[in-house]
Amino acid sequence: MNIYAELLSTIQALVQPGKGVLAADESLPTIAKRFDAVGVESTEDKRREYRSLIFSTPGLGEFVSGVILFEETLSQNSLDNVPIAKLLESQGIVPGIKVDTGKKPLINAPGDEITYGLDGLDDRLEIYKNQGARFAKWRAVYNVSDTLPSRQAVEANAEMLARYAALCQSKGMVPIVEPEVLIDGNHTIERSAEVNEAVIAEVFNALRRHRVQLETIILKPSMVTPGKACAKASPAAVAEATLRVLRKVVPAAVPGINFLSGGQTPEEATINLNAMNSLGQQPWSLSFSYGRALQEPAQKAWAGEPGNTPAAQTAMFKRARLNGAASTGEYKA
Ligand code: 13P
Repeated sequence: MNIYAELLSTIQALVQPGKGVLAADESLPTIAKRFDAVGVESTEDKRREYRSLIFSTPGLGEFVSGVILFEETLSQNSLDNVPIAKLLESQGIVPGIKVDTGKKPLINAPGDEITYGLDGLDDRLEIYKNQGARFAKWRAVYNVSDTLPSRQAVEANAEMLARYAALCQSKGMVPIVEPEVLIDGNHTIERSAEVNEAVIAEVFNALRRHRVQLETIILKPSMVTPGKACAKASPAAVAEATLRVLRKVVPAAVPGINFLSGGQTPEEATINLNAMNSLGQQPWSLSFSYGRALQEPAQKAWAGEPGNTPAAQTAMFKRARLNGAASTGEYKA
């Protein structure tokens, strides 16, 4: 298969009505935090056990088209001794991989951060592809205040995202382009809209500069919400603000926009996605690429006990099903 055909077949598998992406690519410190919250020590074996059980959830592929894995998981076998990528394929789910190596302070820009991971990425992509990954993810992070993010951070992160996306496409791997505008802080929904618009507009400038093919990327943005320290906005207000921004800055050539949950509760993330999809047809599909909002209930139900596997899988299936419904505007609370 040539590269374009390969990219196209992967994007078609990922962007399907009623389906979205499960982000299970927590880095070692992040998964340790999630496990700690349910009283589980994060060891390599426990991570394997947990991820193996959620990916084995019967029927998961009905609502989940792709799973983003952490590097460690891509080389692990399930509890039944099947390579995790094969297990996902057997569920009709496309395996993907987080390829950035995390964020650090951006030099000469106090309060801003920049994502690392381009060095050696071409070689790593070959390895991941041989292990079965067909798409990738890179997350840029933007802190919000009256003055943040700086122009410098907006431009530097966009450049990294575009270089990553171009590299992925050159290897036949679909890039998920994730500019996460953080929910932390006391900013208003208007400030969130302003930052998201500036950030996403610059990402598309950079993608165009690097000749990234927009038809075979997925954009993974934040929803436009007030900061966590403020009163919550209604789903209708979140939907209106988010779509107003996206319509201004995301070309219609982009097939899919899959939101991150970013600290919204599982219910909020579902209701807000549904509110957007209740507003009628948009130029792109609007779905989910949630981490916490899909997994939190399953993690609580599991709590590290193999005996809780059925309960954890039931919880996983439920959130997947409800978000699948929200991705077509058919969710009923
Ligand atoms: P959350 O949905 O928990 O924000 O995670 C999505 C993700 O992949 C962040 O990079």
